[in-house]
Amino acid sequence: MNRKVTVVGGAGNVGATVARAIADKELADVVIIDIADQKAKGVALDMYQACPIEQSDSRILGAGADEAGWKETADSDVVVITSGVPRKPGMSRDDLLQTNYKIMQSVTEQVVKYSPNCIIVPVANPLDAMCQAVYRLSKFPRERVIGMAGVLDSARMRTFIAIELNVSVENIHAFVLGGHGDTMVPLPRYSTVAGIPITELMSKERIDAISKRTAEGGAEITKLVGTSAWYAPGSAAAEMVEIILKDKKKIVPCSVYLKGEYGISDLFVGVPVKLGARGVEDIIQIKLTPEEDAALKKSAGAVKELVEVIKV
Ligand code: 2OP
Repeated sequence: MNRKVTVVGGAGNVGATVARAIADKELADVVIIDIADQKAKGVALDMYQACPIEQSDSRILGAGADEAGWKETADSDVVVITSGVPRKPGMSRDDLLQTNYKIMQSVTEQVVKYSPNCIIVPVANPLDAMCQAVYRLSKFPRERVIGMAGVLDSARMRTFIAIELNVSVENIHAFVLGGHGDTMVPLPRYSTVAGIPITELMSKERIDAISKRTAEGGAEITKLVGTSAWYAPGSAAAEMVEIILKDKKKIVPCSVYLKGEYGISDLFVGVPVKLGARGVEDIIQIKLTPEEDAALKKSAGAVKELVEVIKV
């Protein structure tokens, strides 16, 4: 194929799920790179062997994270960074800060060296702070560093709305803004079922319960499974890759570097953006109520505290 996507940390749960979704949709050739080099090669081979059955001509290559492996990633169109330690029960995403920052440092250097024109989609936690680290380290324009969080958080909210109302998930749009942490901001007024705001369809109590469950969505899975979620995060990252490679210009919530939009400056925070072949093609500014605006600012404050710790 003439498009190439590298999944860093691709032998892990989230990385392998992203890689598999990209191959299943025949979006691009995929390089799975991981410090677990044997596992990367094995996972890639297994996935490649599924392609004849899935009728996909994506070629999948596994590589270790040494110089020879990174060479295989050269000239990728999109690089998804899923490497980093995952959450364990009781840990917040913020607990991963220092460890994952060190990983971002070594990974970003290689991504820039081998794919200087790519779009980077960071997935590692704490998400917004890791995006900011990758952005500063890569020195890429802000259009080409786009964090995956809002697509996942809104997918969780869509699922909870579908369960509550017993309707198709396809009917539902949901918006979740802010940092990918406990302070994220679900926006019920902009969340709709067949175009009808959910505020017309449910009581405030039910909406509040769904918003709370959405904000705690990652922790709920971590508690049940014993480690971080991977199916929904993997699908969410793959959707972003698809939007970019197909230049779909879809509006989705992503973590992007704000320069005054929403009254927030010099910080990665989740907001609605138009995604396309150039990456972030527009930042959509929607009107917020004073309460929503205060919640977004509080969430941005929580991201700021983290980026100040790692000084990025
Ligand atoms: C999640 O929300 C861990 O951030 C990941 O599932």
